[in-house]
Amino acid sequence: MWFFRSPSVVFGEDALSFLNTLDFRKIAIITDENIKKAGLLDMLRKDLPEESESMVVSDIPEEPTLSDIKERVAAVREFAPDLVIGLGGGSSMDAAKSIFTLYERPDLDIYDITPMVKLNLRNKSRLILIPTTSGTGSECTWAAVLSDEDHTRKNELASPEIIADYAILDPALVRKLPGGISRNTAVDAITHAVEARSNQWRNYYSDIFAEKAMELITRSLPVVLKDPDNLAAREEVHVGASMAGTAFSNSQIGLAHAMGHSLGAHFRIPHGITVALYLPQVVEFSETEAKDSYHALMMKMPEKYRKGNLADSLREFFRDVGQPLNIKDCNIDESEYRENMESLISLAEESTGGVTNPREASSSQLKILFENVI
Ligand SMILES: [Fe+2]
Repeated sequence: MWFFRSPSVVFGEDALSFLNTLDFRKIAIITDENIKKAGLLDMLRKDLPEESESMVVSDIPEEPTLSDIKERVAAVREFAPDLVIGLGGGSSMDAAKSIFTLYERPDLDIYDITPMVKLNLRNKSRLILIPTTSGTGSECTWAAVLSDEDHTRKNELASPEIIADYAILDPALVRKLPGGISRNTAVDAITHAVEARSNQWRNYYSDIFAEKAMELITRSLPVVLKDPDNLAAREEVHVGASMAGTAFSNSQIGLAHAMGHSLGAHFRIPHGITVALYLPQVVEFSETEAKDSYHALMMKMPEKYRKGNLADSLREFFRDVGQPLNIKDCNIDESEYRENMESLISLAEESTGGVTNPREASSSQLKILFENVI
């Protein structure tokens, strides 16, 4: 028995104004300082229902920990909202999912958030997620990632009950996103699409979402990088990233994410860069087990990137958009990378992405995959 799960999605020009039509009175907004500085919080507030009052938690750090969440949930409880909004990138949206859960159920331990436990949420409020980057797909997934206190490991909390009631995809919120972040986040979404389409849990629904995501992002990311104000292209990348999130949330990720998470724990590099760095390697390694999936994805890319195999197509595309293909271009010191090799391998082996990848890699095969990007 399988399920397809997704929030209701509001998308396109003026999507934010949907908030105006809702009947909420007390709204807690979870976001971060950069979003506030960029004026996006003000943009959102203009579209809140007229009669409503709001409170803002605007200091969500990057990669929040459990104590970061606990410290902030008390103020939300005191305010007693009937709507929680997460506005931002993956960190703010994952924080909003966690805060929403602990606000609804103060008696819960955060690690009770697993698919096996009935959480009985939504007695007090609803959850809306609004991304301000086009990449993580968190607005559509049923997982939230919290870091360990020392930031060496990430814990994934997952429950169908933490899926947002609505995801709002308004391209105006990503219009001013700098080129580097537009690229880093979009290559993360491409990795979600490729891994969702090919992993061992792939299914009818995830295949369709992954393929469309691949088409939208590879068509429009180069346009966005050349012409950042092109709202039509922004919208395609934004919707595509969300569709890629829906795809992996309804199937799984794969080995590029396992390896990327491991690299990210050792070196502080944006998540998208770490996973996309390994993606062509992983695709080449898994080709024998996922030939049809990879071919279907390649055929969704613009014609000039259809190279005969997806690994080469991705390399060419990544070169064109400036995504690094080796550690040197990620500013990682080679000797430091080699010194950490054993630990890089063992952390990657612990990740679920390695198990659900179309082809499982042994430790020695993982070592080769890690070495191939030196
Ligand atoms: Fe990712």
